[in-house]
Amino acid sequence: MTAEYKVHGDIAIITLNNPPVNGLGHATRLGIAEALEQANADASVKAIVLTGAGKAFSGGADIKEFGSPKAMQEPNLLSVILAIESSPKPVVAAIHSVCMGGGLELALGCHYRISAPGCSVALPEVKLGLLPGAGGTQRLPRALGVEPALNMIVSGEAIKSEMLAMIPGQKLFDKMASSAASLAEEALAFAQSVAAARPLPLVRNLPCKHPQGDAYFQFARNMVKGMSKNFPAPGKCVDAVEAAATKKFDDGMTVEREIFINLMWTPESKALRHIFLAERAASKIPDVPSDTPLRDIKSLAVIGAGTMGGGISMNFLNAGIPVTMLEMKQDALDRGVATIRKNYEAQVKKGKLKQDKYEQRMSLLKTTLSYDDLKDADMVIEAVFEEIGVKEAVFKELDRVMKPGSILASNTSTLDVDKIASFTKRPQDVVGLHFFSPANVMRLLEVVRGAKTAKDVMATVMVLAKKIKKTAVVSGVCDGFIGNRMIEQYGRQGGFLLDEGCTPAQVDKAIEKFGFAMGPFRMGDLAGNDIGWAIRKRRYQEKPDMKYSKTADLLCEKGRYGQKTGAGWYDYVPGKRDAIPNAEVVAMIEAHRKALGITPRKISDEEIVQRLVYSLVNEAARILEDGIASKASDIDMVYLMGYGFPIYRGGPMNYADQVGLFNVVQAMKRFAKNPLDDAKFWQPAPLLAKLAAEGKTFN
Ligand code: 3HC
Ligand code: NAI
Repeated sequence: MTAEYKVHGDIAIITLNNPPVNGLGHATRLGIAEALEQANADASVKAIVLTGAGKAFSGGADIKEFGSPKAMQEPNLLSVILAIESSPKPVVAAIHSVCMGGGLELALGCHYRISAPGCSVALPEVKLGLLPGAGGTQRLPRALGVEPALNMIVSGEAIKSEMLAMIPGQKLFDKMASSAASLAEEALAFAQSVAAARPLPLVRNLPCKHPQGDAYFQFARNMVKGMSKNFPAPGKCVDAVEAAATKKFDDGMTVEREIFINLMWTPESKALRHIFLAERAASKIPDVPSDTPLRDIKSLAVIGAGTMGGGISMNFLNAGIPVTMLEMKQDALDRGVATIRKNYEAQVKKGKLKQDKYEQRMSLLKTTLSYDDLKDADMVIEAVFEEIGVKEAVFKELDRVMKPGSILASNTSTLDVDKIASFTKRPQDVVGLHFFSPANVMRLLEVVRGAKTAKDVMATVMVLAKKIKKTAVVSGVCDGFIGNRMIEQYGRQGGFLLDEGCTPAQVDKAIEKFGFAMGPFRMGDLAGNDIGWAIRKRRYQEKPDMKYSKTADLLCEKGRYGQKTGAGWYDYVPGKRDAIPNAEVVAMIEAHRKALGITPRKISDEEIVQRLVYSLVNEAARILEDGIASKASDIDMVYLMGYGFPIYRGGPMNYADQVGLFNVVQAMKRFAKNPLDDAKFWQPAPLLAKLAAEGKTFN
């Protein structure tokens, strides 16, 4: 049963029961409508309480149902709300824990509302590229006032019920329960007290005006425009609330409905809904059941206090988990601790961290030069130099000292995790945790599953990742894992584009216009061009047949490593990050082109974007075929969280799906004919070719 019906004395209680968050899918809506009918047909029932079981009143419309016929199948949410409004017996919403989206709209349709304190109340539809589509934009301004309602609708942020109850003149809550525990009892008493009240109050009948309407909505529109570039929904929220303040209720509802339906089909909303589900799907591993017992992680050791070790440690200190950092020398430890302090102090200065919190976090940090001090840690993360010999020495030492059951993780970015595991007698406890730099800021965490990594280790690190606020994505063992394996192909295309006629600035500008945070050349300058150079030198040995542009090597030979040397593809002024095009670099590219006998051609932005993005897509399809990633949406999460792929395009796989895989394959066939490109690479991956031929999508 998705909505339970019970009668207590002369009060009927309808309880939504659709775990995990009482999403208002078709079965639940039907359950509410039927229970309501039952209550109204029972002469002994005088009033009705509507509440939610478990951890929410309701999290809103069922997002998984969107786009399917079920979403609008009668009774749709509008019909259910209408049925409640026209119930001859008073309906009291008893709200607790989470009351969001369609859940709040449902409550606003009830005659009365009582809320437990601490309930998160929101209309978060804008975060899915939508606006509230079941009267939220028309009823909330009437219940709360135009300005607070518009702020909630445009931001989508949750506000605690007790804060909302303090808004002067608010009609959202008729009563606040004294605690969550007493909500049920207080709701029954409240229902009893209004059982005979007539006429029944309706939010739709409340007045809705703003004293300086025109000026206010103009101001709101300007504010929203500046903040929501590339996203249509926030501006549309303003339009809908303006309709609430200027039109009759039913006319406002028509405006809201029309906008809602239009937004539902925008690529931006599709992308945001995809991301919502992809993020949650990423934490699930197909062969690791959700009830796998977890290992208890109460303390952590970190080996290496350099760039990554420091950032990694901060994540755990922030989550209240004590960390012991180990280094070879005291001065390296001192430097590491000083950097952590500096980072926290900058946060304190900006008002982002309270002084006492800073001190509390630092008090959880210990340092040592001796492995024996680590033996009791529940988990250790290694972040030493990227050399297999160094890793071997460290893991042998860890194997010697760490207590049984401790998880041994490596932050290696390129090395073979199975090989690292083989340095120990407990490969089942070894896992890769590939953090991204700066590790205390970047949300992505690639969890590298070795051939022997135990399932409970996987389950534990996925939960731990959530605790330290990372989006974890599982990758199998391969060179570059998911993200860097793909970026190598993207980088190669960048090189070919230079050889064929582009400048770095032209390539960067085109892909940044597409929405990437940074083009490949600005990114190279930020990360250090020497890193790519080292990888290429290895590739020249390993894969002598692989085609590469040599332009980037010439740049590195000049010592232009990027921001760290003040010069790379661009010039940099000390202390600033602005990329200034450099004429000598452009001349160097031209001279190299000439030496290769290439006549430059004008390359369109469209071709630049397609070659860069489709190179990611083709390699990603191979990654899926190889079983390195278990689902296409995981690859999207890697690129959205770690590589600056535009959010409103939903990741490379979602983007390819939206373009149509047939079109993507056609473009690849065209690129394969370009003698200056890599024809072998552009053979569509078999999985991609198959999906395109069958008219299917990745996701
Ligand atoms: N529909 C379907 N499933 C939902 C859901 C929803 N509205 N909201 C959450 N879930 C599911 C998640 O997919 C997840 O499922 P899983 O366990 O299978 O992975 C589970 O609930 C738990 O979600 P979280 O991991 O996010 O749990 P938290 O406790 O951290 O957060 C929450 C709970 C605050 C409710 C959060 O999930 C959330 O913000 N949900 C989205 C709410 C939302 O956007 N509602 C508006 C929907 S659109 C709408 O109502 C249209 C209407 O105007 C017509
Ligand atoms: P780093 O050079 O800044 O720090 C490494 C630290 O390890 C140094 O402080 C060094 O003294 C210490 N160290 C070396 N050998 C040691 C040993 N035997 N015992 C104890 N300490 C030892 O290097 P960085 O950048 O922090 O990289 C560390 C690891 O993280 C590498 O495996 C790297 O591939 C990986 N990584 C780096 C990223 C980056 O952007 N820098 C991103 C993701 C992963």
